[in-house]
Amino acid sequence: MNDSFEFLVQKDITFLNFGSFGSCPKEIFSFYQQKQLELERQPVSFIVEKGIKELNQAREALATYVNCGPDDLVFVINPSYAINTIAKSFPMSIGDEILSTNLEYGALNRTWNYYCNQKGAKFIQQEIPLPISTKEEIVDAFFQGYTKNTKAIFLSEITSSTALILPVHDICIEAKKRGLITIVDGAHVPGQLSLDLQYLQADIYTGACHKWMMAPKGASFLYVHNSQQSWIDPLLISWGYQSDFPSHSRFIDYHQTCGTRDFSAFLTVPFCIHFMENNKWKDVSLFNKNTALEWALNLQDEFGFDPLCPINHNFIGQMFSIPIRTNDPIKLKHILLNDYQIEIPVTQLKDKFFIRYSVQAFNDDSDYKTLEYALKKLQKSKIIEF
Ligand SMILES: Cc1ncc(COP(=O)(O)O)c(C=O)c1O
Repeated sequence: MNDSFEFLVQKDITFLNFGSFGSCPKEIFSFYQQKQLELERQPVSFIVEKGIKELNQAREALATYVNCGPDDLVFVINPSYAINTIAKSFPMSIGDEILSTNLEYGALNRTWNYYCNQKGAKFIQQEIPLPISTKEEIVDAFFQGYTKNTKAIFLSEITSSTALILPVHDICIEAKKRGLITIVDGAHVPGQLSLDLQYLQADIYTGACHKWMMAPKGASFLYVHNSQQSWIDPLLISWGYQSDFPSHSRFIDYHQTCGTRDFSAFLTVPFCIHFMENNKWKDVSLFNKNTALEWALNLQDEFGFDPLCPINHNFIGQMFSIPIRTNDPIKLKHILLNDYQIEIPVTQLKDKFFIRYSVQAFNDDSDYKTLEYALKKLQKSKIIEF
């Protein structure tokens, strides 16, 4: 383990699951606690005045970081909240289709299925055949699912179980040509890949700040292009709806006011951005991506598995999913944690399983050697095959 940035993550385990739940560096977490303390000391003035001012500043800082207008983005607690807001409001009629992929995050498949079922619409999970070799293949496969009933597209920029970078910019451009609303789940993107919302062409985008931007849990955002804001209702109706004191932006009024809550996690976002700038995080992230690739190649050499994509920066960021075969994925996860002290997810795509490792600044080669050692042992005892 490399402790140069003093992450709070437990040091006596090999922590290879930053992708599911990130961990804060000590400096960021202290700032967060300082904000919580400020709130508790004078809750009234903090919640109605000082905190709101800082919340607006945090929103502006995040908007600059992801390159969008400050009033086109609101903080939400997580990407599920963002996509529930969208799917609930999306104007779908009987027979309409939302085109997606078979690689999406399970919770959000549930969200779309729930709201599509309610409205008589269909959530289409177009299969992207794996392994893939080019981005064009993904774009072509995706649009095989397009029909005259397609109203919107929804897909991840980095997929969950398979950890693949999808060509969302190319897909959004093509979708726009077909007159579709473009909705992107970028949960894993901020802090891992550079994000430029002006360039991307997504009408709607959600990202988590509490993963690769290292903010405390409960800091994420929902971006909506101003041409699409009018049809989106707040998920939680509160004082911002039909506000007595409307601001210049109905979108902000609707979605920023959610009753009493601790929004300290949101307030850490400018601090996280400074932390990344001060520590040359683009270089740190590139180093981590190179480590992800290097170990994908080492492990492929050792175990001879067929990767899901070419092992290069076009498809792989700071996570890699090793394809495995196992009869008992739950037991495997427990063995990895309890016998080898490795915190790592065993992910699933239909009947296929993967061991997905993440690379963050606190990881070093010794962590991947530990993983390699455990995999060799598990292969020998036939708990996994490749
Ligand atoms: C692709 C993807 N989308 C969304 C999420 C966010 O889920 P949640 O809203 O539970 O934080 C995750 C979490 O890991 C994810 O992998």
